[in-house]
Amino acid sequence: MAKTTAEPLTIQEICRNLMEEPPVPVLERRLDRSMELKRRAEKLIPSCSQTFSKGPSQFVQGIAPVYLERGSGCTVWDVDGNSYLDYCMALGAVLLGYGDSRVSQAVSVQMKQGTVFTLSHPLEVELSETLRRLIPCAEMVRFGKNGSDVTSAAVRLARGFTGREMIACCGYHGWQDWYIGATTRNRGVPEPVARLTKTFKYNDLGSLEELFRQYPGKIAAVIMEPVGLVEPKPGFLEGVQKLARKNEALLVFDEMVTGFRFGTGGAQQYFGVTPDMACFGKGMANGMAVSAIVGRRDVMELFDEIFFSFTFAGETASLAAALATLQALEEPGVLEGIWARGRQIQEGYNLLAESYGLKGETECVGLPPRTGISFHPDETALAMKTFVQQECIKRGYLFTGAHNLCAAHNEQAVESVLRIYRTVLELLAARIRDGALLCSLEGPVIQPVFRKM
Ligand SMILES: Cc1ncc(COP(=O)(O)O)c(C=O)c1O
Repeated sequence: MAKTTAEPLTIQEICRNLMEEPPVPVLERRLDRSMELKRRAEKLIPSCSQTFSKGPSQFVQGIAPVYLERGSGCTVWDVDGNSYLDYCMALGAVLLGYGDSRVSQAVSVQMKQGTVFTLSHPLEVELSETLRRLIPCAEMVRFGKNGSDVTSAAVRLARGFTGREMIACCGYHGWQDWYIGATTRNRGVPEPVARLTKTFKYNDLGSLEELFRQYPGKIAAVIMEPVGLVEPKPGFLEGVQKLARKNEALLVFDEMVTGFRFGTGGAQQYFGVTPDMACFGKGMANGMAVSAIVGRRDVMELFDEIFFSFTFAGETASLAAALATLQALEEPGVLEGIWARGRQIQEGYNLLAESYGLKGETECVGLPPRTGISFHPDETALAMKTFVQQECIKRGYLFTGAHNLCAAHNEQAVESVLRIYRTVLELLAARIRDGALLCSLEGPVIQPVFRKM
């Protein structure tokens, strides 16, 4: 039976229709201003960027724009006036969409009244009360500016509370010594500091158990992203909590990415596991710089003694932005929409990959609000990613490999991205078949953030 116009198409039907369409053509673009700015930056700014993942090593040079100038919803414009569909959303920091009018209005009102004062501002209390209402573990609240501020505050607090020094971690937690010392980008971190942080494997309780066995009575906190691009196995998060409790270590969820994107109560609410502390940031203020550490009262009260204090903590325009963002996220249907569109993209990508015989080579993994594209095998993964990025960008989609869904990703944005994926995956399959992948790259292969250990 034919579908009535009111009935939405299934993702299978959308993909089938897209495969019958002509391929998406390459757009005419110039990158003159981007290149000129990059030339100037090269003389002044190490790595040409303030944030590693935004820098030239992560984008195909010569094809990707280097500077973006403005955004609206899920579209961004580069400095040469080219527009792109965006699913990275400023590394997940924009959760409603670029230039959301409710947030802009709140910020603009606050800017006129003042952004920092000689005393604290009432917005600190209001936002703390909102977070306490929304987040299961939030009995008390402190604010930071970046995610690294609050993950590092959690580590110092846990050390102060337990009187222990070691940290067990799983995931990415920011640029500070305590974490980065445990990675391959550890230059400049004193060895005695690096030695205090040990990593365990996601979904592998045995690897955490082993750390507690190796360092009995020494681990102050287990800090982890509750979920990354792999779903927790049944019982895994509960198991981590049990192990932490048994060994008298504090459990900290780093909800920088999951926070508010999975739900207004974070991934802890979604999975039903309440940690002792949790760290939020990124999408919490739709692109304004604010982060939060929340947690158990008896632990958080120790902030009376633990030094966590800086000039711009409590900066009011960001607090106002956070309140406006959380209010918008609480509106009916907003988070459901984020889940639904994320699911469509994931299913659509995987259906298209399968249709072009790429099931073994590429997959969209993760949970719908935040998914990523993986490529296999490891030896050719970065070349494939580079090729896909190059061909997506040429067609007006600023591919980074991440889908950080936001409220502005509507049905049209889903169809647009799948339309481009359909063309690019067909090209990828053809290049792999012809053995011509490497010689089809129009710039250097993009680099991993961390080398494999
Ligand atoms: C899970 C997680 N934790 C912590 C951080 C650090 O946050 P920031 O870069 O704001 O310091 C990030 C940033 O990407 C993150 O993804």
